Amino acid sequence: MSQFVRICSQTELPATGAVAEFTVDGRAICVANVGGSISVLNGVCPHEEGPLGEGSIEEGCVVCPWHGYSFDAKTGISPEEPDLKAQVYESVVESGELRAKL
Ligand code: FES
Repeated sequence: MSQFVRICSQTELPATGAVAEFTVDGRAICVANVGGSISVLNGVCPHEEGPLGEGSIEEGCVVCPWHGYSFDAKTGISPEEPDLKAQVYESVVESGELRAKL
């Protein structure tokens, strides 16, 4: 069973309306801040492996910088292509750190 692992410190969280990319155990992780709500997603886009953590936020979704597919920050589902789903990890901010179950 997966355990919560540290993604970043609370001070490194992206600003509201922004995303950030972190590398955790060699994996690219996308952290999204939608209206102050933090989501942690697999940083590898399910379309063609673009860098979601270098994307942007639009209407509650993380938008991939490569081909523009968007993924709901909470469910990971793409509104344009519901068969495309980014993995979203359970996460928590506590004791000054963002942690997620990868
Ligand atoms: S690789 Fe992300 S939209 Fe194509």
